[in-house]
Amino acid sequence: MTKEKRASWSGSLAFVLAASASAVGLGNLWRFPYLAAKYGGGVFIAVYLLLSLTLGFTLLVTEIALGRYSRQSQLTAFRQLGHPRWNFLGVLSTIIPLFILPYYNVIGGWVVKYFAAYVKLVSGGGGLDNPQAFFESFIAAPWDPFVCMLLFTVVTCAVIIIGVKNGIEKANLVMMPILLVMAVGIAVYVATIPGAGEGIRFYLVPDFSTCDNIGKVVLGAMGQMFYSLSLAMGIMITYGSYMRRCDSVPKASVRIVAADTFVAVLSGFMIIPVVVMFAAASGGGRAAIDAGPGLMFVTLPKVFASLGSAGIWIGFVFFVLVLFAALTSAISMTEACVAAVCDFFRIRRVTSVVLVCVWSLLLGAVSAFGYGRWADFKPCGLPALEFFDASMNVLTPVVAALICIYVGWVLRPKRILAECQRDGSAVGFKVFYVVMVKFVAPVLVLAILVSEVCRIFGIGGWAI
Ligand code: PFF
Repeated sequence: MTKEKRASWSGSLAFVLAASASAVGLGNLWRFPYLAAKYGGGVFIAVYLLLSLTLGFTLLVTEIALGRYSRQSQLTAFRQLGHPRWNFLGVLSTIIPLFILPYYNVIGGWVVKYFAAYVKLVSGGGGLDNPQAFFESFIAAPWDPFVCMLLFTVVTCAVIIIGVKNGIEKANLVMMPILLVMAVGIAVYVATIPGAGEGIRFYLVPDFSTCDNIGKVVLGAMGQMFYSLSLAMGIMITYGSYMRRCDSVPKASVRIVAADTFVAVLSGFMIIPVVVMFAAASGGGRAAIDAGPGLMFVTLPKVFASLGSAGIWIGFVFFVLVLFAALTSAISMTEACVAAVCDFFRIRRVTSVVLVCVWSLLLGAVSAFGYGRWADFKPCGLPALEFFDASMNVLTPVVAALICIYVGWVLRPKRILAECQRDGSAVGFKVFYVVMVKFVAPVLVLAILVSEVCRIFGIGGWAI
């Protein structure tokens, strides 16, 4: 058994970049635009901005401060705080990334497949003529989804083995700026396509007729914000544990929220105008816009194909961007799992990476084969991947609410606020923080939980 020296980020910027890289992922590029289109464009965007600057900021500060105070990953962090009855929170917030990681890697594998398909297209080959058939035959293929997941997982684990400073930091330093430049590039290009104005208006102008129930909009935005900011998954606790004492937790949190929200809103500018134009041209109406989860893998390739040869290049750049976003998010999740296993068993990092990698391949196989060779295995009537996703959507708000209750009523907010002042700066949001963490956050988070349970059991038409 070896006790290695705890890693730390090389600076405040490295931390902000890493946490933003975790936050910016498939949630921003694919989920945010389709939710915005579904929930009245500007209405959803406004609600989302408000929620992330209040609730998102509060939860982010809480998790990062918990990590930095304890200098432990989520599994053992709660033990340092002196309330043994609440140690179970560490276990719960470790279970979440351990169960999300395997199926996130499966979806990462899908992105690898599309990336490869566009590489073939730009080099003159064919293969994506019928996106619907391409997607369906790929996910049902005997080995393809597993092999793509394996590739994605191996790259992620390689970065983690190299370490926090040399692996994660460097990978983010390369991928994040490229991602941002590509996203801005595509959004600007899309804005110059004749007819794009209609789609931009559709995206930005509030449309109250499509959001008959404001409660649903708020819950949709809140669920999205959780996922997008990687909250309640132990990641921000683990990343916070590598943060230097001289760096400011609130400043870093504001920057992370800003970066994540910026990329989410930008994704809408990349995707919505082209989908709206495609819907008008193909007579697909709202169905193309409301394609939901199928948007990224079926509708968008159709839209890119309709743009001719420029579309092939946009598709290629888009899937490089998605691949980078998925990789940096998977890296953060793998790190949260690896750090928890290291801290708990006090084993070497490399051993821990191997254990997490094997776990994620074994459990990932269940999701990867879930639409093909193991399609008969349907827990609660759902394909394995969707079952894991639904279970985690329920567990995440439970953990978030419990963390708020613990910090607000047991640990006390002043411990978090004291951690925020460690770098010597004054904290001007004390009253706001106390009210948010004690009252507002637990109530709002429990509301998401109730709506998620209603959605799963089909109660009251609360599908989001
Ligand atoms: N925040 C990421 C996104 O928006 O895609 C998703 C994510 C990353 C979820 C890391 C969970 C996680 F642990």
